[in-house]
Amino acid sequence: MSENMSSLQLLTWITGSILLQLAIYLGIGFWRHWAEYLALRHKIVDLEVAVSPLKVASATEALPAAWAGLRAFRVTRKTMEDTAQTICSFELVPQDGQALKPFLPGQFLTFSLDIPTESGATQPVVRCYSISNAPDPSHYRVSIKLAPAPANTQLPAGRSSNFFHDHVVEGSLLQVRAPAGHFYLDRDDAPVVLIGGGVGITPMLSMLHWCLSQQPGREVWLFYGVRHSQELVMQTQLETLAAAHPNFHLHFCLSDTDPEALAGQKYHLRGRVDVALLRALLPLKPYHYYICGPTPMLQSLVPALEDWGVQDSRIHYEAFGPASIQRKKTASLSHSGASNEAYVASDIMVTFAKSGTQVAWHVDAGSLLDFAEANGIHVDSGCRAGGCGSCQTTITSGEVTYRQTPDFDPEPGNCLLCVCTPKSSLTLEA
Ligand SMILES: Cc1cc2nc3c(=O)[nH]c(=O)nc-3n(C[C@H](O)[C@H](O)[C@H](O)COP(=O)(O)OP(=O)(O)OC[C@H]3O[C@@H](n4cnc5c(N)ncnc54)[C@H](O)[C@@H]3O)c2cc1C
Ligand code: FES
Repeated sequence: MSENMSSLQLLTWITGSILLQLAIYLGIGFWRHWAEYLALRHKIVDLEVAVSPLKVASATEALPAAWAGLRAFRVTRKTMEDTAQTICSFELVPQDGQALKPFLPGQFLTFSLDIPTESGATQPVVRCYSISNAPDPSHYRVSIKLAPAPANTQLPAGRSSNFFHDHVVEGSLLQVRAPAGHFYLDRDDAPVVLIGGGVGITPMLSMLHWCLSQQPGREVWLFYGVRHSQELVMQTQLETLAAAHPNFHLHFCLSDTDPEALAGQKYHLRGRVDVALLRALLPLKPYHYYICGPTPMLQSLVPALEDWGVQDSRIHYEAFGPASIQRKKTASLSHSGASNEAYVASDIMVTFAKSGTQVAWHVDAGSLLDFAEANGIHVDSGCRAGGCGSCQTTITSGEVTYRQTPDFDPEPGNCLLCVCTPKSSLTLEA
């Protein structure tokens, strides 16, 4: 009986000490995690200070245009970049032999093309292409995706992209405007997330290469979304960079692929780039987000990032065509002290002289370019961001105001419809 009692006591003692050890272990674990959590919160506050608006503003001052008007460039290399054979890179060297001034990674070039027509004449076409290499005094590189004719229609295929793929060869001369655009990587050291969808990868490539060479310690993530791996450009180069730089985290996101294609592919994820994915992979840090991709991607991702709590000033994006993104706040898009008075409801009338149309301006019209198009008036456009000059239009009477300082300097008596609104009743040569 006493032997039984002592066994029971021993068992109770062993169980008690195990429970006590467990409690101590859990207590220490909890305490450590709590301390780490508090330290991380503290670190975030520090980082918030490090990327204060003042610092970002000074780090993102635009450079003056590297040259005025058009400059001749010779194509020195033409390279097909993807196995689907849809994206082709062109390396461009200035014909005058002068070194190229640095541009801001993310900026684009504007090409003034004379494209042959079926009648044997040529048609002037202006198009913008993001620079896809890091600033380099010897050359620029652009990477251009073929725009096919829409399926089951008689509509023509994309003019500029098909011209580049089919007619521009090594040795061709092209007329180019200086790098421009407000979508470029800040020079801060805050961690950065680059998101490229399809051919929207091009400015990200420039940002990435610049970042890895000029800011070697900066934490940088690249999420590159395509439908399947045949559409990836420079896959091996990107994988080599990721293997060489521990601070560079690479993820290819394939939205339309069978699971076998993912097997053994270290950098591949299945699905689209969305906030659920970012939440799952990114540590808790105040990242800057740079996004370029198709309109639906921007329209879903930008508001979702805002809903997640990412500060407006940390979300930067560019679309390669018209895109209307619903922002909660729009202040960060303005780079100038331009007046907003034209957004106030008014009795302003806009007359499009050539088309003989007169329409009342309204507050939700967007830019004068949007307004013209919404009223069936065709105006040439390229960047839709004040960078290329394609939408330059003569003002016969009245005044305009700019939403942001344009990179392209319009000739006296002209305005850039894509970035301005009427200040008074207006007559335009359009
Ligand atoms: C800032 C900026 C940077 C850019 N960077 C890049 C880049 O790095 N790489 C890149 O590839 N692109 C980039 N783009 C897009 C590029 O400028 C062109 O818009 C793109 O190459 C298509 O031009 P395109 O002349 O080939 O096609 P377009 O002739 O403009 O036609 C576009 C599409 O519309 C179709 N179409 C033609 N006529 C009609 C019609 N009547 N109705 C409906 N559809 C029609 C065409 O078949 C084609 O699919 C950028 C754009 C901007 C604004
Ligand atoms: S469309 Fe490029 S400046 Fe207006």
